[in-house]
Amino acid sequence: MILVTGGAGFIGSHTCVELLDAGYEIAIIDNFCNSRPEVLDKIRTITKKDFKFYEADLLCREKVEQIFEENKIDAVIHFAGLKAVGESVSMPLEYYNNNITSTLILCQTMAKYGCKKIVFSSSATVYGDPASVPIKEDFPLHTTNPYGATKHMIERILTDLYVSDNEWSIALLRYFNPIGAHESGLIGENPNGIPNNLVPYIARVAVGKLECLSVFGDDYNTPDGTGVRDYIHVVDLSLGHIKAVEKVMATTGAHAYNLGTGTGYSVLDVVKAYEKASGKKVNYKIVDRRPGDIAMCYADPEKSKRELGWEAKFDLERMCKDSWNFTINNM
Ligand code: NAD
Ligand code: WQD
Repeated sequence: MILVTGGAGFIGSHTCVELLDAGYEIAIIDNFCNSRPEVLDKIRTITKKDFKFYEADLLCREKVEQIFEENKIDAVIHFAGLKAVGESVSMPLEYYNNNITSTLILCQTMAKYGCKKIVFSSSATVYGDPASVPIKEDFPLHTTNPYGATKHMIERILTDLYVSDNEWSIALLRYFNPIGAHESGLIGENPNGIPNNLVPYIARVAVGKLECLSVFGDDYNTPDGTGVRDYIHVVDLSLGHIKAVEKVMATTGAHAYNLGTGTGYSVLDVVKAYEKASGKKVNYKIVDRRPGDIAMCYADPEKSKRELGWEAKFDLERMCKDSWNFTINNM
């Protein structure tokens, strides 16, 4: 059985669908601090399969131990965490505690029950402002906000854990910019309040819930002056987790993998693609740069292809189409 922490969240829910479709038995732990219970039924509807669910906080050691006591957990996919960069700057203690303490409790419990295989949700944010693109896994790591620091530290903790005990098998998956939704339109990304991220914001403008997108700067050293990112379909990303689970089950070690498409698109490219997919006008205005943003960020996904046998398949058009389908069904 695979334990999925944060399985009710955006990436976790899509990965649970792919795990169930691939025939894995799963248990989910989530405290719904950034998700909703309805997601669980939607996973059941899509897959026509059932799974165990624990509504609990990973910070609660007794609950985590109970899960390992009641189930034979072969591997863990660890999504649970807080993820808003700006919020992490104003609430650093919450971020360090929630993300790092929960990982320590999880790993201590795994060790206690002899489960030493883990796939961890890291982020391209660990590369900071890279000296060049595309980004390879051996580039230097540098973080500039508490959220990124938690990812960097957890990568370090897990790597040290492997050094201390070579029976561990650890995949550090560095996601680029996940967008899109399941093609059913049942699950997707639906943040509370005003979205921080580009595509959820564009979706709300296209559907008429927000007036106008603010494009954060058009004076970057990029083809059209707006920021360039490696947007990846959440279903592709989820399939990367299946490959990573297979890898950790078959080997030992601690390895980092980029999960991106290898192609960068600008903010205005995404606006155009979304207009095409939705048939709606996306009003935008150019405003100042957002503090902390970088010009360009896209992956070299070659190591993931070579070592995991994974590569992204869906293009930007499909990502926008699936995002729009989810938006009109849910907003
Ligand atoms: P999400 O917020 O949708 O999902 C995280 C889930 O974890 C939520 O359901 C939340 O309720 C749960 N959770 C958080 N803290 C918990 C705790 N202490 N105990 C139990 N449950 C808890 O986020 P997501 O976009 O699905 O991201 C999943 C992971 O991937 C996160 O670790 C995030 O940092 C990482 N990541 C996300 C992105 C992105 O752009 N979405 C990019 C890179 C990395
Ligand atoms: C994308 C581009 C913005 C919103 C963040 C985290 C990163 C990772 C993914 C977790 C940039 C521009 C955005 C808007 C805009 N998360 N933009 N107007 O900043 O690449 O990455 O999410 O690990 O750690 O930092 O993603 O979607 O916020 O921005 O112009 O209203 O869109 O400047 O160029 P980002 P994003």
